[in-house]
Amino acid sequence: MIQRVPIAPNGPSFSKLIYGTWRILDDAATATAEDLLRRLHQCLDLGITTVDTAEIYGLYKVEEFIGETLKKEPGLRDKLEIVTKCGIYVPCEFHPERRTAFYNAEASRLVKSTEKSLRLMGIDHIDLLLVHRPDWLTGADETAAGLNKLLKDGKIRAAGVSNYNVHQFELLNSRMDQPLVTNQVEFSLLHMDPIYDGTGDQCQRLGIKPMAWSPLGKGALMDSTQPASARIHAKCAELGAKYDGATVDQLAYAWIMAHPSQPLPIIGTNKLDRLIATAKSAGIRLEREDWYALWTAAKGHGIP
Ligand SMILES: NC(=O)c1ccc[n+]([C@@H]2O[C@H](COP(=O)([O-])OP(=O)(O)OC[C@H]3O[C@@H](n4cnc5c(N)ncnc54)[C@H](OP(=O)(O)O)[C@@H]3O)[C@@H](O)[C@H]2O)c1
Repeated sequence: MIQRVPIAPNGPSFSKLIYGTWRILDDAATATAEDLLRRLHQCLDLGITTVDTAEIYGLYKVEEFIGETLKKEPGLRDKLEIVTKCGIYVPCEFHPERRTAFYNAEASRLVKSTEKSLRLMGIDHIDLLLVHRPDWLTGADETAAGLNKLLKDGKIRAAGVSNYNVHQFELLNSRMDQPLVTNQVEFSLLHMDPIYDGTGDQCQRLGIKPMAWSPLGKGALMDSTQPASARIHAKCAELGAKYDGATVDQLAYAWIMAHPSQPLPIIGTNKLDRLIATAKSAGIRLEREDWYALWTAAKGHGIP
């Protein structure tokens, strides 16, 4: 059973693996409320209680789809922690007037988007709201005012950010009434920036856990025709037996979770069998040399 852990000193508790919904409308075969309901039940059986979504997913259609699914089973929402994000606006069928894609993290925009997310998902609070990307045109006081208001009004239980660098995080955090609880960043064997750019260190200093998006490199890690993935697959084939037959994806999630900032990987599969298989990764404790061997395989060279 996957454990739940506090994501920050006074933050909510989330499951160590999180179910991601970016792609849930991409595959017609699984884009039904019944199928999503099956996956959510599977998640709960595995101990995955946290679901990650965003206003923009499915070009603004995913949250509504989640709402339709939750409506099918009263009580289901109370068994889940719902994370959503806002702040990215692109031209789409609902907004043909938009001339370009832009970020907006002004207070009024955050409030409006959150109220829309609540309405579309048919819920009365969001467990964690993230500013999806830093908006270069909005000051920290303004963004913090929106998040602080949403917290005060009980519309969100916690606030965080996504894709912020350490300086942007520090600045916004300094203006918050209640500290930010996470930074959701891209982190995988194919994208290791959080190890080097200070994100992992900042999270450790603050005692918060990052959320790791695209833990399989948007699927590229599973494609062994790509050179880095081929090297990782070869190393995983060697290591698998030592870790009770662990597969490439399981070792890749375990590699992320081994980082001392204790990242929570966000699982992106629409397939039930792949979802079930992820659970094993939470029990894998990679030995130091195996972790570095995977780093080496991913990079194609040894440590500096
Ligand atoms: N904050 C942000 O800016 C941001 C950005 C991107 C994503 N996210 C979050 O992170 C979540 C995960 O991102 P992601 O979907 O890119 O994750 P990912 O796990 O890196 O990639 C998922 C892709 O890999 C495929 N896949 C998964 N397991 C596989 C396996 N065992 N063998 C072969 N292919 C496999 C999936 O296809 P199948 O469905 O066919 O298995 C899917 O196409 C998203 O749902 C979203 O919640 C956040």
